[in-house]
Amino acid sequence: QILILDFGSQYTQLIARRIRELNVYCEIHPYTSAPDLTEDIRGVVLSGSPCSVRDPEAPNPDLSRYLGRVPVLGVCYGAQLLAQQGGGEVLPATIREYGRARLTHLDPASALMRELTLDSQVWMSHGDTISRLPAGYDIIAGTPEVAVAAYHVQGQQTYGIQFHPEVTHSSEGKLLMRNFVLDICGCAADWTPEHFVDSMVLALQNTIGPNDQVILGLSGGVDSSVAALLLHRAIGPRLHGIFVNNGLLRQDEYEDVLHSYKDLGLNVRGVDASQEFYAGLAGLSDPELKRKAIGRTFIEVFDREAQKVDGARWLAQGTIYPDVIESVSVKGPAVTIKSHHNVGGLPDKMNLKIVEPLRALFKDEVRLVGDALGLPHNILHRHPFPGPGLGIRILGDITPQKVALLQRADAIFINGLKDYGLYDQVWQAGVMLLPIQSVGVMGDERTYEQVVALRAVTSVDGMTADWAHLPYDFLADVSNKIINQVRGINRVVYDISSKPPATIEWE
Ligand code: XMP
Repeated sequence: QILILDFGSQYTQLIARRIRELNVYCEIHPYTSAPDLTEDIRGVVLSGSPCSVRDPEAPNPDLSRYLGRVPVLGVCYGAQLLAQQGGGEVLPATIREYGRARLTHLDPASALMRELTLDSQVWMSHGDTISRLPAGYDIIAGTPEVAVAAYHVQGQQTYGIQFHPEVTHSSEGKLLMRNFVLDICGCAADWTPEHFVDSMVLALQNTIGPNDQVILGLSGGVDSSVAALLLHRAIGPRLHGIFVNNGLLRQDEYEDVLHSYKDLGLNVRGVDASQEFYAGLAGLSDPELKRKAIGRTFIEVFDREAQKVDGARWLAQGTIYPDVIESVSVKGPAVTIKSHHNVGGLPDKMNLKIVEPLRALFKDEVRLVGDALGLPHNILHRHPFPGPGLGIRILGDITPQKVALLQRADAIFINGLKDYGLYDQVWQAGVMLLPIQSVGVMGDERTYEQVVALRAVTSVDGMTADWAHLPYDFLADVSNKIINQVRGINRVVYDISSKPPATIEWE
């Protein structure tokens, strides 16, 4: 595997993605807890950073445990750090260099630059520049503005590059990463979904005792479903899936998803706890209080159901890699915008050991593994759906009547997206029930009914998003259908806010 040392760059995860696209396994570790070299580690990549190496407070770990022993590639900050530690000089760039540049000098003999072409585009993003290289460092690439765009350390397989090969704007970045990972580090390209499935199934069989029972909370989403299939392949019916209906799912989703799981041969129990959730939510309108109430009821229901499984030793979770990467905070602590994701408190209370078969995977890799395991398209490509479900799409307090109303409007929107072939083009979509009424006219009657907002976004990871530019005729059709078919709604609006500054959900 390749080890990536993270110095806090926004691009660090992209480095990992690029390496894994080469079918090579890699892990990101914060520079503050850099692991010792083991036989498994075939090479090290040092990431970029928002810091300046000239700042005495900036990350400056001892890299001697790697240098000269395995190939090392410093990217941006990583390259400047290696140059400075070697006795070179890094100064503020006279022109700040952000954006595209072209390689005007290339050393064709360099293993890192093999097959790259002169004039190819690279992506720069740095305020400092390497003004003098240490003795024994050779320049292997340059641009008109940056003399030292890449260097090689004589007698070692140590390289530094000032540009970012991991971003797609660097047109030959992938080739450069391939040169480093496959040729220079000598990694085999055998990290494939099939290989992952085989080795994970074996690992699960070795970890979970022969009589141990495993409990898994299923949500109908990709992650928990793929985790279930892997466990099912490893231990069969000793996996006990629990799928809780919180009364806030989409229309027919509880029945449909349960059906799909049964078709896959999974040992899954459905628990309809809708009334308990509604009771817990009664009278609450504050988004955070609603989230907490839903989380609390979920723990109660799940705990109660789990107690019914004799010999339960393990709690499986669909945690994926972005959830476990310890982010390096070099510029102050992150701020919580919403108390999202992952119901806390489950494991401690239940006294079960945790097993997380997807811990090493990015979301798109989870999909590839799901595909290899035969997960049906409707689950594999399902839009993300928040844990509190429609509970945070009904603004204000929640009643079963409002849920039923929203489910009908939401089904018209989502089915419409599918019928028009638009579903796979948007990242997430849903309908928000607003806590206001508006005047309308239907036939000769004055109406005074509710308003819904349609929300559809394009995104890569949900962190940033743009509103989906859906065709007008589609929006017109959905609006007509909702107003005509769902009694109680007389107005439909479309949300055209991007994230940031808005968020995807309205609460
Ligand atoms: P926002 O609204 O923050 O949402 O732009 C980003 C993504 O997170 C989902 N989301 C949640 N998921 N529990 C969840 O499991 C929550 O409380 C929650 N709130 C938002 C949202 O649907 C989107 O995919």
